[in-house]
Amino acid sequence: MTWIKVASKDDIQEGNGKELNINGQRIALFLSKNKYYAIEALCRHQDGSLAPGKVNGEIVECPLHFWHYNIRTGELLDYMEGIKLTTFPVQIRKNEIYLDI
Ligand code: FES
Repeated sequence: MTWIKVASKDDIQEGNGKELNINGQRIALFLSKNKYYAIEALCRHQDGSLAPGKVNGEIVECPLHFWHYNIRTGELLDYMEGIKLTTFPVQIRKNEIYLDI
């Protein structure tokens, strides 16, 4: 396991996402209903970033053409079965957010 400090809690507001670039890897970090989620940032449709997408509970909507993903499991929820983005475990230590990458 490699835990990397990626942000502080103040960097992200409830109901929003933030795109991170961790060693060249684009990851979307979300805070939704007081839980943090980290998922590969790029939509499998046309590489839109999910970070500015609308979040509702565990579901994010891609802002480009509105595909939906579960941000806990990475699963695409419409159009095709079996498509899954990578998700990353999140840990909060004091005021800092760490991901296991
Ligand atoms: S790029 Fe995400 S739905 Fe098209």
